[in-house]
Amino acid sequence: MSRMLIRLYRALIQQIRHCYTHVVTTFVSITATTGSIRQHHQPLPEHEKAHPMSDATLDKEKIAAKGLKGIVAADSQVCDVDGDLGKLIYRGFNIHELAESSTFEETSYLLLHGELPSATQLKEFTELLIHHREIDAPVLDCLKSLPPSTPPMTALRTAVSISGCYDPLAEDNSRAANLEKSVRLTAEMATITAAFRRLREGLEPIAPRKDLSHAGNFMYMLNGTVPSEDATRAMDLILILHAEHGLNASTFAARVIAATLADLYSAVTGAIGALKGPLHGGANTEVLKVLMEIGSVENVASYVETTRANKGKFMGFGHAVYKVEDPRARHLKALSERLGKETGDPKWYDMSILMERLVRESINRYCNVDFYSASLQHYMGIPGDLFTCVFATSRIVGWCAHVLEQLADNKIIRPSSNYIGAPERHYVPVSQR
Ligand SMILES: CC(C)(COP(=O)(O)OP(=O)(O)OC[C@H]1O[C@@H](n2cnc3c(N)ncnc32)[C@H](O)[C@@H]1OP(=O)(O)O)[C@@H](O)C(=O)NCCC(=O)NCCS
Repeated sequence: MSRMLIRLYRALIQQIRHCYTHVVTTFVSITATTGSIRQHHQPLPEHEKAHPMSDATLDKEKIAAKGLKGIVAADSQVCDVDGDLGKLIYRGFNIHELAESSTFEETSYLLLHGELPSATQLKEFTELLIHHREIDAPVLDCLKSLPPSTPPMTALRTAVSISGCYDPLAEDNSRAANLEKSVRLTAEMATITAAFRRLREGLEPIAPRKDLSHAGNFMYMLNGTVPSEDATRAMDLILILHAEHGLNASTFAARVIAATLADLYSAVTGAIGALKGPLHGGANTEVLKVLMEIGSVENVASYVETTRANKGKFMGFGHAVYKVEDPRARHLKALSERLGKETGDPKWYDMSILMERLVRESINRYCNVDFYSASLQHYMGIPGDLFTCVFATSRIVGWCAHVLEQLADNKIIRPSSNYIGAPERHYVPVSQR
């Protein structure tokens, strides 16, 4: 009886899926005219439509979890994301406490090693980060050879991949080597991002300084001037808040690659590719585009109405895990407000708070980490298309912590798919087709 019910249920699911695939394949495109991200619906070609389920398929009794929603794919000690309570915990420490009191260096040590460092450990870790700030000449040459129009995340992905060719430890998959490479990559990604920013503007890259914190040196390499204490702290906070977030898409990508026992550079290169997408880390860049397109507080309401009417995406809103406030957003919001006042240009913050309220009323979604990160980084003088690179220069730590954890108890990650294609059939020579 229960088997029959399962069959009926599956037949129903199959029918729904069939209708769905018949009508739509969803993909996201950035519309040039409105600057907003819309869902597009395209009919599938005839041969790609779902086939009626064969008995053999039914017998498998499998249902695919779209987007792996609700699937627990790993045990992890790195981070806890509680989507119902809006809690984010790095290695047992609440993000609010780390945001208040920690530094990026200390948080990185915590994520990579599992405990807060002693003063000596922190000193040694910081020195290692500083030691790795310089990038190899061929990596810089590669950045120089890229067209200035290269998307910054593409440049970062390429340079990180090339950097692996010059790291003598690249193929050493021991824990010690991977820890060393994690620090090297954390240091280098800031240098690569800053160098590419300057090169594409026809400016010389700025060599890293040894006497500045990681955040301070990053800002210095980006802008060519030593940042104020306030600006350094703002960047430090951005880096702490973005450093880790459980089994998000890019971290999962890194773990899948690492689980094949490929090298850390391969895992990080893949993770950068995943982070680039506008549904993940690329959302912060899209948020600024939207704010620019809206242009003024007066236009926010009509933007929200139109986007809603067109079933468009509100970038920087919604989350795969959080059903309540994203705990990172409040810190970025407060900083954005402060910098809006300090720069005498509160418009971007004012537009953001209005949009936050109206989108919440319209689709019942909270803003996520990417929303206030956009106005904040804009106030900090960072170009919009570089925001995702800033995210990556922080998330590198989380990626590496997860790769280390994956390798400590490795199992290749190999889910299965639910076959909904043609039943088995016979090959027909091309002359008879
Ligand atoms: C983050 C995101 C991909 C999560 O997707 P998800 O896990 O499917 O989340 P939900 O289950 O709440 O989404 C179900 C539906 O709610 C609606 N929805 C969710 N977020 C939305 C948003 N920001 N704007 C409009 N509609 C949204 C959509 O209809 C969505 O279905 P769809 O993805 O097929 O269009 C999604 O909220 C989103 O696209 N947000 C905008 C991009 C963004 O800010 N990404 C950064 C995330 S930190």
